[in-house]
Amino acid sequence: MAAAMRPGQAGSVAVIGRSVTSSDTPNSYTVAVIGGTGPQGKGLGYRFARHGHDIILGSRAAEKAETVAAEVTERLAEVAGAGTARGAANADAIAAADVVLLAVPYDGHDDLVAALAADGALDGKTVISCVNPLAFDKRGAHGQVIDAGEGSAAESAARIAPEATVVGAFHNVAAPALWGEDEFLDEDVIVVGDSAEGKQVAIDLAASVTGRPGVDGGKLRLARVLEPFTAVLISINRKYKTHSGIRVTGLDH
Ligand SMILES: NC(=O)c1ccc[n+]([C@@H]2O[C@H](COP(=O)([O-])OP(=O)(O)OC[C@H]3O[C@@H](n4cnc5c(N)ncnc54)[C@H](OP(=O)(O)O)[C@@H]3O)[C@@H](O)[C@H]2O)c1
Repeated sequence: MAAAMRPGQAGSVAVIGRSVTSSDTPNSYTVAVIGGTGPQGKGLGYRFARHGHDIILGSRAAEKAETVAAEVTERLAEVAGAGTARGAANADAIAAADVVLLAVPYDGHDDLVAALAADGALDGKTVISCVNPLAFDKRGAHGQVIDAGEGSAAESAARIAPEATVVGAFHNVAAPALWGEDEFLDEDVIVVGDSAEGKQVAIDLAASVTGRPGVDGGKLRLARVLEPFTAVLISINRKYKTHSGIRVTGLDH
């Protein structure tokens, strides 16, 4: 089990990680959640903090973030071993964290990431994107075409902030379930990225959400598959009145 305790060993994750529970989460992180006042950022931040990570909910307005952080803190009050939650302006949140979660709408995404990355603020940090470039019309949800089909929101972030380690994860986890009462969600988090160490961070954090490590889904370009796939889940949710997720079979867990 000792091998599971060190970051950067994505090659062994599928073998050693399957039975890991929240209390075994190998590393503790401080996570800045950009868009932390929205349902996805708040929900993921809550789950991370519930399992011992410290979160800083970021916002364009610090006061708004502090209000939401107080709401999260209230929910954490009875949770033994919980981490802390506080709010801050986006830039201050990033400065105080090694891990940054992008949980903002795709509209304006590139400009926002460029602003966040100014003066090297994202350099050396692990940036996890759960951003889904979706569109809706009378036939329902569908994925937007990014860079003529040769890109994704996560790849755009990596291009705009080249000194950050960008990974994609948590695209297919529904916000209402994150804020719900279940201890863990019965689904998997698929993590994509070009850096094994970066992926390991998201793989670790996923255990806070599902009770087991995230699944290494390959290179960052596969965010082109994960991001629009959420449109399928939205269609399923509408049809079956649920909050569906993805479960990967064939793994040893
Ligand atoms: N909701 C879900 O179930 C779900 C599931 C999977 C993935 N996602 C993805 O997660 C991301 C966030 O989803 P969400 O539903 O939480 O979104 P949201 O509520 O629309 O936005 C989240 C937060 O982003 C900030 N924001 C909005 N527009 C911005 C802009 N132009 N520039 C900078 N910040 C802006 C706002 O915070 P401030 O006003 O406080 O700055 C807002 O509270 C999206 O990309 C979505 O596709 C969502």
